[in-house]
Amino acid sequence: MSHKLSLNDGVLMPTLAFGVGTAFLKRSGSDALHRPTVDAVKEALRVGYRHLDTAEMYNTELEVGAAIHESIAEGIVQGRDELFITTKVSSDFLNISKSIDVSLQKLKLDYVDAYLIHTPYWAESDDDLQKAWKGMEEVKASGKARTIGVSNFQSTHLRTVLATAQTPPSVNQLEFHPYLSVRDGNDYLFSLRDNMRDITISAYGALAPITRNIPGPLDETLKEVANRYGVGTDLVCLRWCIEQGVATITTSRHEDRMKGYLRVFDFQITPDEVMQIGASAQACLGDKEQPLTRIEKYHMAQKHT
Ligand SMILES: NC(=O)c1ccc[n+]([C@@H]2O[C@H](COP(=O)([O-])OP(=O)(O)OC[C@H]3O[C@@H](n4cnc5c(N)ncnc54)[C@H](OP(=O)(O)O)[C@@H]3O)[C@@H](O)[C@H]2O)c1
Repeated sequence: MSHKLSLNDGVLMPTLAFGVGTAFLKRSGSDALHRPTVDAVKEALRVGYRHLDTAEMYNTELEVGAAIHESIAEGIVQGRDELFITTKVSSDFLNISKSIDVSLQKLKLDYVDAYLIHTPYWAESDDDLQKAWKGMEEVKASGKARTIGVSNFQSTHLRTVLATAQTPPSVNQLEFHPYLSVRDGNDYLFSLRDNMRDITISAYGALAPITRNIPGPLDETLKEVANRYGVGTDLVCLRWCIEQGVATITTSRHEDRMKGYLRVFDFQITPDEVMQIGASAQACLGDKEQPLTRIEKYHMAQKHT
């Protein structure tokens, strides 16, 4: 598997991204630069990441922008063209041309590489989603984003967008790991399975089997596979996504982990091992209701507050 994936519009996207959300979320809404985040992003660039994932919602665009410009000035990266920057819109969905300008201003960039609609759950009608997608197409036409996509879209949302899209989304960024990959019943993996539009899945939460679902029924299987290749279970989780053609976003505040994740390209697991890991997760779920994604839980909690 290459270190870059070719998207359905021909744009090449680095397979592994460094996320500047979750661990780095800036909840205060403050516009003051958070120096530890800038330094962590610079460290990620120094150890070799070239794809950064941020979002309006994370409130870290300012820090990502500062890290990019300082890294170029200090020779950590040679220039803007070396980088792939993803950001996401999470407000003012019906005025996306304004939202991208605000993001670009914070990032101090002329364009981002990928611009995504962060979630579909704000939309009150199909028309809302279709209008928002039209706004995304205008952003791409303006050159302010090289490629456009979505995030947390279920099959129903994708079909709505595809019904009127001139340009299909190139990426759907989803929570994806063995405990969630079994949601075929409700078409969770529409974009992976129905490849007619060739929408690339980009995974977040890939490390859930070793960070959130512990102890869990996959523990032994993951350890066995990890021992076979002399790597950690974290790398097996990341490789399990990449082996299926899924781009992967991970993150860490620790330099040793940042560096360690990059070893995901130094080994491969077999198709049988990919299946074995998926099947072990599926077996433990049995007939139980499929788990909700983090964003579904968040959305439900918002509804009840
Ligand atoms: N589109 C969306 O709605 C959405 C939602 C969530 C996330 N994302 C993106 O995806 C990125 C990654 O998301 P994620 O945090 O869910 O990714 P992840 O790869 O599943 O988890 C990364 C986290 O795992 C921790 N970790 C790694 N190895 C560990 C170990 N052995 N023991 C304990 N903790 C360990 C790291 O903590 P340390 O810092 O301590 O190493 C880090 O915070 C985010 O930053 C964001 O850019 C997108």
